[in-house]
Amino acid sequence: MSYPYQIKSLEEYRKIYNQSIEHPTKFWSEIGEHFKWHKQWDEVLHWNFKEPKVEWFKGARLNITENCLDRWVETQPDIPAIIWEPNDPTKSSITLTYKELHFKVCQFANVLKNNGAKKGDRICIYMPMVPELVIAVLACARIGAIHSVVFGGFSAQSISDRIQDAQCSMVITADGAFRGNKTIPLKSIIDEALLTCPSIEKVLVLTHTGVPVSMINERDLWWEDEIKKIESQENWYCPAESMDAEDMLFILYTSGSTGKPKGVVHTCAGYMVWANYTFVNVFQYKKGQVHFCTADIGWITGHSYIIYGPLSAGATTLMFEGIPTWPDAGRFWEIVEKHSVNILYTAPTAIRSLMSFGIEPIMGKNLSSIDVLGTVGEPINEEAWHWYNENIGNKKCPIVDTWWQTETGGVLISNLAGITESKPGFATLPLPGIQPVLVDESGKEIKGNEVSGNLCIKYPWPGILRTTYGDHERCRINYFSAYPDLYFTGDGCLRDENGNYRITGRVDDVLNISGHRIGTAELENAINMHTGVVESAIVGYPHDIKGQGIYAYVIFNGMHTDEEHTKQDICQTVAKIIGAIAKPDKIQFVTGLPKTRSGKIMRRILRKIAEGDINNLGDTSTLLDPLIVEEIKSNRQ
Ligand code: WTA
Repeated sequence: MSYPYQIKSLEEYRKIYNQSIEHPTKFWSEIGEHFKWHKQWDEVLHWNFKEPKVEWFKGARLNITENCLDRWVETQPDIPAIIWEPNDPTKSSITLTYKELHFKVCQFANVLKNNGAKKGDRICIYMPMVPELVIAVLACARIGAIHSVVFGGFSAQSISDRIQDAQCSMVITADGAFRGNKTIPLKSIIDEALLTCPSIEKVLVLTHTGVPVSMINERDLWWEDEIKKIESQENWYCPAESMDAEDMLFILYTSGSTGKPKGVVHTCAGYMVWANYTFVNVFQYKKGQVHFCTADIGWITGHSYIIYGPLSAGATTLMFEGIPTWPDAGRFWEIVEKHSVNILYTAPTAIRSLMSFGIEPIMGKNLSSIDVLGTVGEPINEEAWHWYNENIGNKKCPIVDTWWQTETGGVLISNLAGITESKPGFATLPLPGIQPVLVDESGKEIKGNEVSGNLCIKYPWPGILRTTYGDHERCRINYFSAYPDLYFTGDGCLRDENGNYRITGRVDDVLNISGHRIGTAELENAINMHTGVVESAIVGYPHDIKGQGIYAYVIFNGMHTDEEHTKQDICQTVAKIIGAIAKPDKIQFVTGLPKTRSGKIMRRILRKIAEGDINNLGDTSTLLDPLIVEEIKSNRQ
C-alpha cells in the first residue's frame, strides 16, 4: 500500500510543486486531511516573517501520538513499529508492534503524570538509544509536556545549560549507555549537571547497563518501580491531551554563530505534517518496508526520521544502539541483512569512515533488501557518493541527498527516491511548498541558473521553527533579519543549469564536524575557560572522515609541563564544557592572532593557513601586526 499523497512520477512532482506554490493553503489543507484531528483548523496559515509569526492549521486541535500510535493500533496493531538492535550483537534485538508501543507509551505517560508532570512542563531526556527513549519522547507528547532531548555525548555543563534555559522540571535518564566497547555513566553526568539546576524536581532512571548509581531520596526514582505502580492499577491507558496546533511539541538545542546554543522550538501540527509528508515522499516509503535511520535521537534527524516521520506514517522504524565500527566495520551491513532493511539513511561521515576499511567488511553480506539509500548532515563528496552507490546500493538504489536543518523540522531540498533524478553532490530540487532563493551579500536576489549565493527560503512551510525558547528576538535576529521577508539558512549554495541545488557549506561561523553543528564562538568560550589560555580562535579545515576538523589557535601564557600535555588539558576542558564531540583535532600555540586595527580577528587568513593554502593569503597589509602571520605559517600543525 502506498499513500494517497505520495508523488509517483517526475511529471507529478512538477505539477504538485507548482500547485503547492500557487495555492499553498489549498495544498496543505488537502494534505492535512490525512491526519487525525480533534478539531479542524479555522485558518490554514497565518504568518509574517517580520516578527516572525507563523501559525499553521490555526485553531486545530490534535495529539501527535494519536497520529503515531492510536490510528495504527486500529488498523495494523501487530505490525512492528520499532525494531531495536542492541549495541552488543550477541544480545537479542527487540520488536515492538504498534499495539505494544501504544501500551508502553500510555503506561509511561501515566508514570509522568503520577510524578506531577503536566501539559506545558519541560522535560529533559538524556538517554541511550533504547526503545524506552522513544517511549519517553512519545509519553511526553501524549500528556502535552515539551520534550528537550539532549544527545548522550554532551557534558554535564551542556546539559545544565539546556535544563536551566528551558527551566525543565524533570529529567528522564538511564544508569548508563553502551557505545561500542565503552560505557557512558549517564546518571552520574546528570547528577553533576543537577548541582546547578534547582528547577528539577524528579529524575526517572531506567536500568540499562547495571552500573551502580547514586539515587537521591525523593528526587530520583527507578523507571521500573514507577511502571510497576501502573501495572498494578490495571488502568494503563492514558488519554491523549488535546493540544492546540501551535502548542509547543519540543525544544531541541543547536549551535549558532554566537554564544550559547539556542532552543529551537517546533509545534504540534505543522511539524507533524512536515515530518510525515517529507518521510513518505523523499524515501518513497511503502508499507511493510523497514526504515533504518542511523542518526541519534539526540539530533533532529532522529526526531524526524526515527520517531515522528515513520511512526506517523505507520512505518517500521529500526533503531540501533551502537556504532558502525563495533565490533567491526561490518556492523551496519550485518544489521541490514539481519533485519532485511529496505531504506538506509546515514551521514556522509559514516560512509567515509566505513569506506576507509575497504570492501572486505561488506563481502558476504546480503544487502539485496535495500531499495533506497539516503544521506544527511553535510555535503557528500563525489567519491563517497560513488562508493555508497556501487558497494551498498549495487548501482540499483536511488540515493537521496537530503538537505535540511534543525530549524526546518524536515527535509527541504532533496531528490525523491526513484522519482526525481539524483546528481552526486547535489541535494537537487525543493520539496513541494519550498521556495529556495539565492541572495548576494547585499540581499539582492540572484535569479537564473548557474549562479551561487546565500541560501534563503521565501515562504513558510509547515515545519519551520516558530521561535527560540525564551528569546524570540534571538530567533528574529538569527534567521529573519539578514534579508527582509526571507528565512536565512546560514548555508552557501549554488544552482546548476537545470535548477538543481548544491549546498556548499556554512557561510557563518558554524562548523560541521561529522555532521554535527558546533559554533566557533561556543568553542572559543570553552577553550578560554582553561587557566592559562589568554585568547583563542577556531576555524574549520577539510578532514577526510569528519568533513571538517577543528583547528584551534591558542595564545597561552600559563605554565607548560610540555606542549603535548597542555594540548590534552585543553581538549579535556572542551570535553568538560561542551562534550567530547567538540575536542579540537589540532591545536597550535601562537603568540598573537592576525587582527585588523579595529581588533577583529581575520579568520579568513587563519582558515587558509589551517587548510594549508599558505601562499595565497591575500592582502595582509591592513593587519595590526603582519609579522604574526609569518610566525603562524611557519608553526602550522
Ligand atoms: C548541513 C541536520 C549539505 C547544512 C539535518 C545545514 C547539509 C546543517 C545537508 C544543519 C546536505 C545538512 N548537504 N549540507 N544534504 N544536510 N547539511 O541542524 O550546513 O544538525 O545548515 O540538521 O547541516 O545541521 P542540523
